[in-house]
Amino acid sequence: MNITIAGVGYVGLVTGVCLAELGHQVTCIDIEEEKIAMLQAGRSPIYEPGLETLLEQNLGCGRLQFTTDPHCAYKKADIVFIAVGTPERPDGTANLEYIQVAAKTIAQYITNDIIVCTKSTVPVGTNDQIKQIIESIKPPYLQVEVVSNPEFLREGSAILDFFHGDRIVIGTDRPEAAAVLEQIYLPLKTPIIKTDVKSAEMIKYASNAFLATKISFINEIAAICEKVGANIDEVAYGIGKDQRIGHNFLQAGIGYGGSCFPKDTKALVQIAGNVQHPFELLKSVIEVNNRQISLPVVRAKEILGSLKGKKVSLLGLAFKPDTDDVREAASLTIVKELLEEGAIVTAFDPIAIPNAQEVLGNSIEYTTDIRQALVDAEAAIITTEWEQIKHAPLEIYESYMKEPVIIDGRNCYSLKEVEKYPITYISVGRPAVTPKYTKNNSI
Ligand code: UDX
Repeated sequence: MNITIAGVGYVGLVTGVCLAELGHQVTCIDIEEEKIAMLQAGRSPIYEPGLETLLEQNLGCGRLQFTTDPHCAYKKADIVFIAVGTPERPDGTANLEYIQVAAKTIAQYITNDIIVCTKSTVPVGTNDQIKQIIESIKPPYLQVEVVSNPEFLREGSAILDFFHGDRIVIGTDRPEAAAVLEQIYLPLKTPIIKTDVKSAEMIKYASNAFLATKISFINEIAAICEKVGANIDEVAYGIGKDQRIGHNFLQAGIGYGGSCFPKDTKALVQIAGNVQHPFELLKSVIEVNNRQISLPVVRAKEILGSLKGKKVSLLGLAFKPDTDDVREAASLTIVKELLEEGAIVTAFDPIAIPNAQEVLGNSIEYTTDIRQALVDAEAAIITTEWEQIKHAPLEIYESYMKEPVIIDGRNCYSLKEVEKYPITYISVGRPAVTPKYTKNNSI
């Protein structure tokens, strides 16, 4: 099969590289020349565990190529995966401009009958629009089928998710088109769900909305736990044991970020609103998430009073571990709030500093050394549960900080461990730990 991937963002690149690894001939096209040059040289523009190795291997054996030339990308294509971005508009709706441009370009350059497969997350009905655009432009003698095939790749474990996903959703009313896609994915042995186009589009939004709901739900329970003196770790474990609920996505913290949940939840509220169904539950999920992100600064002020002129270290810039992505990362909002309060911020992150710098510039200091970030700080706010943070010896807070105050937005440490040190420790949904002795003295 000759496969073309339109859009070499996160989803397009992982999909293209993994499909080449399955043995297909894959051409990836993007308009960004710099990115394509980098990929042609075997370097990945994003950090994703295992991606660069697969990229190099498949470039090396000639199964994978990158181009900015639509003629080269589409002339031999049997299948085109659309994986361009659908960024959020100011009103929360998905911006479909890149999708429309991709559809037009495909229609202009194809020379075979093809299947167009939409990976991008698009509102219900968009695949019908893609079909209309292509039909209105393509040569009349060519057949084009449009299929919805949403992605469920998590950043940081996207390669694993591609090869060992829970399901593959194929949305089409044409069994022949579904059969071709089934054939492509056959080696993966992942369960395939075949639906109509609109249901496939909805499965993607509903999945992300449900996962976001689980997160906001556990964060609400965490807030109540704090007030009644319960411990969210024990509560989450207890409810997760019920197989109908499950343990996943019950990690309380400062909420969800990233390129999908914030955007997709808002888009689904809009999609529902457009059909006169106010999605109140999902609106609350979003509100709870916004509240969670502000918790660390609220807590810092409760402990330190004014933050003006005080040094605060921020541990973690990426929206989650094992990625350099800072899109909708809690860290960005927290930095903004800290700076508004007059704090002086030093941020630690092992790999996301360049991306964070593009947004935050020189407004804060950056370091890849966790100890360096803590020097003379009056509070440390944990925003990402990096292994480097989880496995940092707790002594470093006592040794390097002015006063060891940890506001842990990701519940990285066990309360029993923290209790052994002279640390003030505030986490999410768990009792606060206050030191039994102070840094320079016993009680
Ligand atoms: C998500 C979906 O999981 C994936 O299927 C989809 O296709 C793309 O969006 P991703 O954004 O990469 O993937 O990360 P994910 O692991 O889902 O986490 C999203 C956010 O939720 C992160 O900010 C994470 O910290 C937060 N989260 C996750 C919690 O706060 N608690 C949890 O229990 C789980």
